[in-house]
Amino acid sequence: MANDASAVFDTLSPAVSKGSPADPFTPPADSSLWRKNFLLGAATASYQIEGAVNEDGRLPSIWDTFSAIPGKVLAGDTGAVACDHYHRWEADVEMLASLGLEGYRLSIAWPRVMDAAGAPNRKGIDFYKRLLNRLKEKGITTFVTLYHWDLPQHLEDRGGWLNRDTAYRFADYADLMSCELAGTVDAWATLNEPWCSAYLGYGNGHHAPGLANDRFATQAMHHLLLAHGLAVPVLRTNDPASQKGIVANIGRGTANSDSAADQRAAHLFEVQHNAWILDPLLKGSYPQDLFELWPGTEPLVLDGDMETISAPLDFLGINYYFRTNVASDGAHGFRDVPLEGVERTQMGWEVYPDGLRDLLIGFKETYHNLPPIYITENGMASDDEVTDGHVEDTQRISFLRRHLAAVDQAIKAGVDIRGYFLWSLMDNFEWAFGYERRFGVVHVDYSTQKRTIKRSAELVEKFLQERKAKA
Ligand code: FCB
Repeated sequence: MANDASAVFDTLSPAVSKGSPADPFTPPADSSLWRKNFLLGAATASYQIEGAVNEDGRLPSIWDTFSAIPGKVLAGDTGAVACDHYHRWEADVEMLASLGLEGYRLSIAWPRVMDAAGAPNRKGIDFYKRLLNRLKEKGITTFVTLYHWDLPQHLEDRGGWLNRDTAYRFADYADLMSCELAGTVDAWATLNEPWCSAYLGYGNGHHAPGLANDRFATQAMHHLLLAHGLAVPVLRTNDPASQKGIVANIGRGTANSDSAADQRAAHLFEVQHNAWILDPLLKGSYPQDLFELWPGTEPLVLDGDMETISAPLDFLGINYYFRTNVASDGAHGFRDVPLEGVERTQMGWEVYPDGLRDLLIGFKETYHNLPPIYITENGMASDDEVTDGHVEDTQRISFLRRHLAAVDQAIKAGVDIRGYFLWSLMDNFEWAFGYERRFGVVHVDYSTQKRTIKRSAELVEKFLQERKAKA
């Protein structure tokens, strides 16, 4: 194990075996998760699972380019094959359905469905039509993300998200997909985690396209949010019956001490991670504190942009993973102060379910127009291995149970949360960490592409069966 988590399973029964009466996952009887309209599903993303990067007219994306650069991705891994889902999608849908999962969140690869002139690529579009039709036949609720980071490289060659024109190209893409797929999508999310696209992609260079400049990050964010705002009315026109939203990752920042400087640092951390995205969407303005952190980085905003960005949403997708403990950096910002002796995952991320609850309750207080929420990602990586055909992912079971309890607490505190998608359906290409970090509730052997259901997935399935039986 990359981390020593053995000491921290304080609330976990040691006797974890199939059919054990001491079920380490099933929520208590008074949990809101027993409501049968609370959607429980799993999520994936195109570049992380599909592979087939050169097939049927797919164009290169920024992640093909970035992962080919030595040193950018652990072990030189790329998404060229990934989980080979492009060829194995039928079996993968069977697997999803057999687990009883009620919802599936997937993303469309923009470079698969449009050529460089903006014309449709029929073969790529047909792949998603077949996939979504099959999901609907299985009665699975479909959440489709239009942009989960795989920007066509030809758009990056013209400035990518630094170029305002990319936002208009995105609206064209949203137009095409919603015309083609209307009726098979229950909920559209325009973007996945604009914070990661803007900051990791253009601010610190850890993700594609690998640029590192704070001013670039704020401008890229503005164009991403503009793209979202331009796409929403297009989606509403073409596919009126579906829900429209966006997915934001959120971060909990806690102060290392009671000092005013450290308290301020924690506040700035949350401004940078949360308010930077949620304020423009829900208040129609950028938080001014952001520019205290990054002086002189105000993006160029044209008249009408903030109105476009802040048009009402049907839902807000929230992705949550961990908290960060911070102190003042002595100047305008914050620095991480990792806590000792806390439970961590294979990513080194702290397991901190209270952060999810506290942030959700805080958003309800801050944003009076907060739309209904879906937790669109939550989960953890562990270095799972298959032993005698089984994967005992004990830490994940505990993680999921505790985070679902946090969601229940937020619901009981009055936050309108309608569903939860675990990240991820299966192990996959974890961006800069390649295939080493395993987030799935299904194990993937990358040498054979064999899928093995992990113990966590079995327990989720058992709960869903029990819930169905009670309904
Ligand atoms: C999120 C991404 C998702 C996955 C998880 C672990 O930031 O949206 O694709 O990589 O982290």
